[in-house]
Amino acid sequence: MFSSINASRVINSILLIIGLLIFKPLAYFIAFMMLAAGITNYCLMEKILQRIGFQNTCSTPVSQAEMQRYDAKEHWENIYKTKKSNEVSWYQENPKISLTLISETNLGKDAKIIDVGAGDSNLVDNLLAIGFKRITVLDVSSTALHQAKKRLGDRANDVTWVVSDVRKFETRDTYDLWHDRAVLHFLTEKKDIRTYVEKIQQLLKPNGYFIVSAFSENGPKKCSGLDIKQYSKDSMIKLFSGFTHIKSFEVEHATPWGARQIFIYSMFKKRGNKK
Ligand SMILES: C[S@@+](CC[C@H](N)C(=O)[O-])C[C@H]1O[C@@H](n2cnc3c(N)ncnc32)[C@H](O)[C@@H]1O
Repeated sequence: MFSSINASRVINSILLIIGLLIFKPLAYFIAFMMLAAGITNYCLMEKILQRIGFQNTCSTPVSQAEMQRYDAKEHWENIYKTKKSNEVSWYQENPKISLTLISETNLGKDAKIIDVGAGDSNLVDNLLAIGFKRITVLDVSSTALHQAKKRLGDRANDVTWVVSDVRKFETRDTYDLWHDRAVLHFLTEKKDIRTYVEKIQQLLKPNGYFIVSAFSENGPKKCSGLDIKQYSKDSMIKLFSGFTHIKSFEVEHATPWGARQIFIYSMFKKRGNKK
């Protein structure tokens, strides 16, 4: 049986144990017991550890070598090809916080909305149901968008779909509302973060809103096997200092397997043109 175990999983397990030995003796002990009991599936080990309170990662891990040649498209296409919608840590059946914040903007149903890094989130379904007519859904993964289109059926024709890396997204359109749940935090390089802020500045109409949610400083340090950048209310305000801050608050998200992750949601408004 042991011979059938994938070597990289064994290495991952050993690295996990070494890390846990250094940082979490109890978790090390539990991980060791799991290995002894024949659980050599890294994801399963991780889920069990999360379930009992060690919750700083989520979803599929990638090796150090993979991290070095991180390619957003390759990584995310692989995630969406190998996992069902409700098997990923960020799954939410009802994106109610986003919907509440969007309704607080009081934008009319003709407002142009873009959901950036939307994946196959149900937000677009809900926005269509409420009556929004000019929705753009962008993601680096065509597989994710294909799944969302399939779910929507004919209603998919009422949406503009864009397969693009947000850092490279170019359009002549401008938007009344920019929405991002769990995408900004994957940008860890300063130049990428700067590009992201410039994109919002460039693509948001004057007086337009943006809603961004990312892992909080009290949340996970990794997601989907990737390093992430955590945010606080202060760091959000600092990053988006060119915009008017409306509100920020923390929310606990429960993954499909019951782990808890703290997100911060922030809402900003772009300043209007000076008359
Ligand atoms: C954690 S998921 C969140 C999905 C969705 N926003 C939600 O709340 O369900 C992150 C999403 O961002 C997309 N993504 C990651 N990096 C991206 C990038 N640089 N440009 C565009 N999309 C990206 C991924 O394909 C994935 O769908």
